[in-house]
Amino acid sequence: MKKISIKIGLLFFCLIFTMEVCLFFLLHQKIAHSRIEEELSALVNRGNNHRDVLETYYNEETIHHIALMEVKSVTEVVITDEQGKIIISSTDITNQIRQLIKAEKKDIPRSGQIIENDWKSKPYIATVTPFETGIKTGYVYMFQDTSQVKQLMKQLNKHFLIAGIATAIVTAIIILILSRFIAKPLIKMKEATKKLSRGNFSIQLDNKSNDELGELAGSIQRLADELNHLKTERNEFLSSISHELRTPLTYMKGYADVAKRDNLSKQDREHYLNIIMDETEKLTTLVTELIELAQLDNNAFTIHKEWFPVSEALKKITKKILPSFHEADITLVVICPENIQIYADPVRFEQILTNLLDNARKYSPNGTITTLEVVHENGDVKIAIRDEGKGIPKKDIPFIFERFYRVDKSRSRDLGGTGLGLAIVKELIYAHHWEIEVASEVNKGTTITIIARGESS
Ligand SMILES: Nc1ncnc2c1ncn2[C@@H]1O[C@H](COP(=O)(O)OP(=O)(O)OP(=O)(O)O)[C@@H](O)[C@H]1O
Ligand SMILES: [Mg+2]
Repeated sequence: MKKISIKIGLLFFCLIFTMEVCLFFLLHQKIAHSRIEEELSALVNRGNNHRDVLETYYNEETIHHIALMEVKSVTEVVITDEQGKIIISSTDITNQIRQLIKAEKKDIPRSGQIIENDWKSKPYIATVTPFETGIKTGYVYMFQDTSQVKQLMKQLNKHFLIAGIATAIVTAIIILILSRFIAKPLIKMKEATKKLSRGNFSIQLDNKSNDELGELAGSIQRLADELNHLKTERNEFLSSISHELRTPLTYMKGYADVAKRDNLSKQDREHYLNIIMDETEKLTTLVTELIELAQLDNNAFTIHKEWFPVSEALKKITKKILPSFHEADITLVVICPENIQIYADPVRFEQILTNLLDNARKYSPNGTITTLEVVHENGDVKIAIRDEGKGIPKKDIPFIFERFYRVDKSRSRDLGGTGLGLAIVKELIYAHHWEIEVASEVNKGTTITIIARGESS
């Protein structure tokens, strides 16, 4: 489950550990080298000191004294004459010492010279310093047992090993914490998306960081909220549909039962059958509108825009709708300059206006006036439908474009409304990339304005 943190951790660890090993190696080399240098230069200095003493007081006693000093110390001294004959030695002459003394010496500086520095394989490291008194010339050889240097190196290695292990452990711990810190939001998001795929949309991701991970968490959260919203909306929609379908069906069943009775007059029976017919029609309209909405929703419809004169289209529409206005005793006034062209789908345009005019008629009392006015403003076409009807309360205005939303549930059902008209209008307006505005005052009237931006000539 925490594979990602292990991967990140291992990668970091390998990188940092390699770097640390390289650094430690370089540091070790440097320290070891300077330690050996120190030992060798101390040995040269000691030889030079002996030379100084010899040159100042060259006699038997001084020579013995020097040898005695070295017997007591960790270094050894051998003093020879010019020909390599040993005058005195503080230790037994081993093979290596003999070879070094016998080796040819040329141009040895007064400040001394290192003649053996191989501390790894030889028993001694060694230096030589020439001396010259009035009586005698010769060499002071200094030797130091390498086992001591080896011991020193062993110690150094041990320290490095301890430091190395400690660093590796600390690095591992830090990386473990860091990788968890990085992987934690990722793991949380993975779990959240798993929940989403199982249909549980109520997730809460609280990653507030400003980086890419924070953005990703934000996107997942928005997706979840959106899905959650869609889910509740779908549930509401389904329950509304079943309610809308059940009501006319109940009516129909009830009236059918009554119509079946034997002792019914022909007139009554016809009356009930008419009611059943009415309800069937309503049901058919409802189903048609639902299918239409579903198509609009799926973008399964295409709009075919073309240029046409608004006034022509309005004449056609009003011709169809006028009888119903006459019947309701409502005057329809159309104000539209002849020259305005609009770029729209003519069939959908008719559908939009029919729906809006139908509402104006349905929700206005007899004897009022409904005005349809088209104006041309800064390249936009504005179509306003103004009625003197009962108006829409302010609190309801934001919802009237929702499916099945009706301000006065019982009354608008009597008027044949299902609450789908404006939902369809909204989808069509969006499909045209237009805007729609609502202004309304209760008991005074409603104005619905369509703004077709830049769609005129
Ligand atoms: N011009 C208007 N005046 C007053 N109320 C309105 C007006 N237009 C719409 N409404 C309110 O908004 C609601 C939703 O309107 P919509 O056209 O979507 O549904 P409907 O007219 O009830 O049914 P349908 O149009 O599907 O037959 C209406 O029920 C009504 O309450
Ligand atoms: Mg309507």
